[in-house]
Amino acid sequence: MNFFSRDKRSAFEAKETAQWIAFGPVIFQVARVLRDKGILKLIEGSGSTGLTIEEIAEKVKISVYGVRVLLESGLSLGLVLVNKGKYTLGKTGYFILNDSLTRTNMDFVHDVNYKGLFYLDESIETGKPAGLKEFGEWKTIYEGLSQLPPHVQKSWFSFDHYFSDDAFPLVLKKIYRPGVNNILDIGGNTGKWAIASANYAPGIHITIMDLPGQLNVARERIAGLGLNERISFLPVNILDESVKIPKGFDVIWMSQFLDCFSEQEIVSILKRCYEALDEKGEVVILEPFWDRQKFEVAAFCLQQTSIYFTALANGNSQMYSAETFIRCIEQAGLEIVEQTDQIGLSQTLLRCKKRK
Ligand SMILES: C[S@@+](CC[C@H](N)C(=O)[O-])C[C@H]1O[C@@H](n2cnc3c(N)ncnc32)[C@H](O)[C@@H]1O
Repeated sequence: MNFFSRDKRSAFEAKETAQWIAFGPVIFQVARVLRDKGILKLIEGSGSTGLTIEEIAEKVKISVYGVRVLLESGLSLGLVLVNKGKYTLGKTGYFILNDSLTRTNMDFVHDVNYKGLFYLDESIETGKPAGLKEFGEWKTIYEGLSQLPPHVQKSWFSFDHYFSDDAFPLVLKKIYRPGVNNILDIGGNTGKWAIASANYAPGIHITIMDLPGQLNVARERIAGLGLNERISFLPVNILDESVKIPKGFDVIWMSQFLDCFSEQEIVSILKRCYEALDEKGEVVILEPFWDRQKFEVAAFCLQQTSIYFTALANGNSQMYSAETFIRCIEQAGLEIVEQTDQIGLSQTLLRCKKRK
């Protein structure tokens, strides 16, 4: 589905959209502060009766001025409605307050991205994540992930997990076909896939390959669950071209991993997977592609997430289109033997084998 082949807005609507963009950071912060100061919650609780600015100010212990500017801004955003001086919750306000996808995206944008995005021009010019200096002097965010402030880590992991968690239970059966017992999970992160796999069937062994700092988190969780015998760890920096991928795995699994790399790096990783596979072996990839979405808003979320990769993560990767990504698979000598779109919120599953 191509949502982007024609201009759907009238000139008037386009000019209106341009104003939403011009004031983008303002309206984002207003919505967040109305949420985080408990104002939207309070208004929701008042139901259809609503509350005056003075009543709200007294309850949330903020000045009448503060509540007024926030709510008046919120009116044009559809966050709140006003009738005879009483504010009630608007539909958009309802989602800002209660929708878990919106909350996850908003916290990720605010805690992880907001300040760093100021350096987007520099990132585009240099191909480096110039915004990362807001947190530390690392080459990529992945090297610093375990050292980020706790609330930033929380928002990063919630965002990361939100998009893959709901897909994992849906694909376990597809991956663990008869004969698939030994799997390498590259970019296994906090061990969520490995744990889901170990709990799925008793004969399965998973090896998680990831950066050393990340593996410490996974190790602790897995030991706590008593799964040490079933899950092994391989600390590596996959960007080091001399790192070979060990042979002998039935499946090499990569979920939301390859989007952390440039096209050239993806090809290099996949070529090393190719060398590690035997004729029966498979590379299985779970990725969200913006041109494989059912809804335009899902494509929108992915396209905007790309900018996190540019300004904060590493400066050279993105949420790819399937078109660009599949070219990398082919360049590595692999062929796709099965593709399944629309798994969970936004994922596509690609099963790949060595091209004959
Ligand atoms: C977006 S997370 C994916 C997490 C998980 N697979 C999922 O589906 O939720 C990307 C993972 O890749 C790892 N990673 C990033 N760069 C890496 C590198 N150069 N070498 C090894 N692992 C890396 C990160 O540490 C992180 O755990």
